[in-house]
Amino acid sequence: MLNGLMAKSRVQFVCRECGSVQPRWAGKCPDCGMWNALEEFTPPPGSESGGRFGQLPEAPQAQPIGQLDAGAAPLQRLASGIGELDRVLGGSPGGQGLVPGAAVLVGGSPGIGKSTLMLQAAGAWARQGAGRVLYVTSEESAQQLRLRADRLGVTASSTNGDEQLYVLADTSLLRITEQIRKIQPAVVVIDSIQMIYKQDQSTSAAPGSVGQLRACGQELIVLAKMTGIAMLLVGHVTKQGTLAGPRLLEHMVDTVLYFEGDRYHNHRIVRAIKNRFGATLEVGLFDMTDGGLREVADGAGLLAAEYQPRAGSAVCPVIQGTRCLLVELQALTSTGFLGSAKRKSSGLDTNRLAMLIAVLEKRGGLRLADQDVFVSSVGGMKIAEPAADLALALAIAGAHHNRQLDHGVCCVGEIGLGGEVRHTQQLAQRISEAARLGFSQFLTASTSLKPPKGAKLIAVKTVAEALEHLN
Ligand code: TYD
Ligand code: MG
Repeated sequence: MLNGLMAKSRVQFVCRECGSVQPRWAGKCPDCGMWNALEEFTPPPGSESGGRFGQLPEAPQAQPIGQLDAGAAPLQRLASGIGELDRVLGGSPGGQGLVPGAAVLVGGSPGIGKSTLMLQAAGAWARQGAGRVLYVTSEESAQQLRLRADRLGVTASSTNGDEQLYVLADTSLLRITEQIRKIQPAVVVIDSIQMIYKQDQSTSAAPGSVGQLRACGQELIVLAKMTGIAMLLVGHVTKQGTLAGPRLLEHMVDTVLYFEGDRYHNHRIVRAIKNRFGATLEVGLFDMTDGGLREVADGAGLLAAEYQPRAGSAVCPVIQGTRCLLVELQALTSTGFLGSAKRKSSGLDTNRLAMLIAVLEKRGGLRLADQDVFVSSVGGMKIAEPAADLALALAIAGAHHNRQLDHGVCCVGEIGLGGEVRHTQQLAQRISEAARLGFSQFLTASTSLKPPKGAKLIAVKTVAEALEHLN
């Protein structure tokens, strides 16, 4: 009776969306406001004493910061040799790659290429002599994985001829950790974490549930920290992020990589949305081919490669992490209904779009109230930078008036509510990159900068002034 009561009192509820833990069930998560997202779970014994990872074997003592050991050698990263992947994992040029002991979450919608990238990377780390690499496949059989490896040209041996890439087809956490202890790999890939389950008294949650995901994720991350094994966890998210989600793992891991865009494009964009060991918002660009993912050698112009001046189209250089990429933005307007006109965007923020439409109406003299407006970022890359405002506004106005920009024009600038075009950070980097890729005229707020040879800066102070460049 007493046991029953005690067990009952330990039940908690975890939010599928934000991962917060609540003592009692509610229809709406008090932390993130998501409806119907709380699921029952039983925390492992010891964890209710306050520690997120249960009781530590030895209680750590607080120390003055000066007496802390900073580590004798600088961090030795494991480079895969796949440059675009190493770049998103972080590090300075020449020393980029995976940090030993790091936990990395690799998320994305099903079929986008997570398993493909992870298998290629696992083969690459093994080949580079990083040590043993263990690929745990919980969705496919070992044979299926072997076939895929053959197709991708992932070979088994490392430079010294030893077999270094190991494969385990299992879903039980206990058996997986046992194999990890036996093989002692330097890198472990778990594909996917959603299929792993832990079977003991402490976790009564059903396989695939949030409770299991949390328990298994935590145990693997603690293992990574204690042993120095780099742990890559693969997880699916749907477009809405509703699936019993890797979202709740985000705050537990060191690095979160997400595949952006959709599987219907050939390009694959991998973005670091969180990174304790590198720059965030860094992107890696790949092409999906018959032989797996290929890095794009010079990706700076990839997303504007098919750009031709036309009504409803403009190019903007955006800063993504440490580099500058040129992106084509497109817009289309068509007759809608006053009061219920549609505003749809793909890859761009809808609030920003609504603001720009209002500014174009008020300060640019456009009448868009009864027009449906559709905008998209070519290639599916998410653009959050205000520096893209000017290009987007010109794309919308161009679509509406059926006018276009001249050949070789590139736009960069943030637009304020007063219709003013604002200065942009890292303007020199943006302009030199766009000039390198053949753009010669730059619509921007500031002309104080010395442009590269052959390029010309054109000052536009307001949206109305910018619209005069459409013809
Ligand atoms: P996959 O890596 O299995 O996706 P995920 O693990 O994210 O669910 O990739 C599946 C898609 O990639 C599938 O539609 C086929 C395509 N693909 C190729 O085009 N070429 C290849 O060499 C491979 C392995 C997959
Ligand atoms: Mg997969």
